[in-house]
Amino acid sequence: MALIEVRNLTKIYSRGESALGGKLKGGGEVRAVDDVSLDIFAGETLGLVGESGSGKSTLGRLMLRLIEPTSGSIRFEGQDLLGAGRGEMRRLRRDMQIIFQDPFASLDPRFRVEEIIAEPLIIHGNLHRNLPGNGDSKNDIRARVIELLRAVGLDESILRRFPHEFSGGQRQRIGIARALAVRPKFIVADEPVSALDVSVGAQIVNLLAQLQRDFGLTYLFISHSMPVVRYLSTRIAVMYRGKIVEVGASEEITERPQHPYTRSLLEATPEISV
Ligand SMILES: Nc1ncnc2c1ncn2[C@@H]1O[C@H](COP(=O)(O)OP(=O)(O)O)[C@@H](O)[C@H]1O
Ligand SMILES: [Mg+2]
Repeated sequence: MALIEVRNLTKIYSRGESALGGKLKGGGEVRAVDDVSLDIFAGETLGLVGESGSGKSTLGRLMLRLIEPTSGSIRFEGQDLLGAGRGEMRRLRRDMQIIFQDPFASLDPRFRVEEIIAEPLIIHGNLHRNLPGNGDSKNDIRARVIELLRAVGLDESILRRFPHEFSGGQRQRIGIARALAVRPKFIVADEPVSALDVSVGAQIVNLLAQLQRDFGLTYLFISHSMPVVRYLSTRIAVMYRGKIVEVGASEEITERPQHPYTRSLLEATPEISV
C-alpha cells in the first residue's frame, strides 16, 4: 500500500468573480489540478516538476488538505483524508508537514527561533503522549528544540534570536526544523530552494537528503527545475496544465522522456552539479 494514494483529484478555481464580488473580464474557471491520480510510497522522494502555474503548489496543498478539492479522493496510510473529522484531522496534521518556498515570508517575524520551532510541539504535545513537549516542561521542549536545531545544522546560540537576523538559507533551516518538530512521516517541500542562491540551495537539498535518511521521511519535492528534482528524487512526476503527463523512475524520466513536454523541460534546464 502506498503511503499516499491520490485518485481523480481535481481543483477548480473560479475566475468569474473578483475578491470584492464583482465580475471580472474573461471570467471562467482554472482547472489548477485536473483529474490527477498518483501514489507516493513510504521512504521515497517523489519529485513534482513543471513550469510556473502548472498546478504543483495546488496539488501539494491538496495532499495535506490545506485546501479542499473540487472532487476526487486522497488516502493517507489507507485512511480517507477528505472524510476525516476535525479531531482526526488534527492527528493527521502531525504526520504531514510542509516546507515553503519563501523562508522570508514563512517565519513569523514577531517570534524568536525557540518559539517558532516549539510552537507545533506545544500545539500537538497535548494530543500525543509520545512527543517531547507533552510533559509541558519548558526544559523538555527546549531540549527538543536544540536537538532539532542541531539536526538542521544550527546551534543553540540562536534560540533567542529573531528570523530577520538570518540569511535565507539559515531561515530555511529553521523552517525545516519547525516542520520536523512533530516527527512527521510525510513532508511536502514546495520549491524549498527556489528563493535561494544555487550554492545555498544545494546545501539545503543535501540537508533534506540527510534528514530523509536519518528520520525515514517521505517527500513530495516540488520544483520547476529538472536538475534539482533529478538529484533528490526516487521518481519524478511531470505536471503540465493541471495534469500529470508522465511519471516514472528518475532515470527513466530524464534519460528516456516519453512526453514532449518532459523533453522541453529537460532541454530548458542546463546541467548543474548539486
Ligand atoms: N487561490 C487561487 N485562486 C485562483 N486561482 C488560483 C489560486 N491558486 C492558484 N491558482 C491558479 O491555479 C493555477 C495553478 O497554480 P499553482 O498551483 O500555484 O501552480 P504552480 O505551483 O505550479 O506554479 C494557476 O493558473 C494559478 O493562477
Ligand atoms: Mg508553486
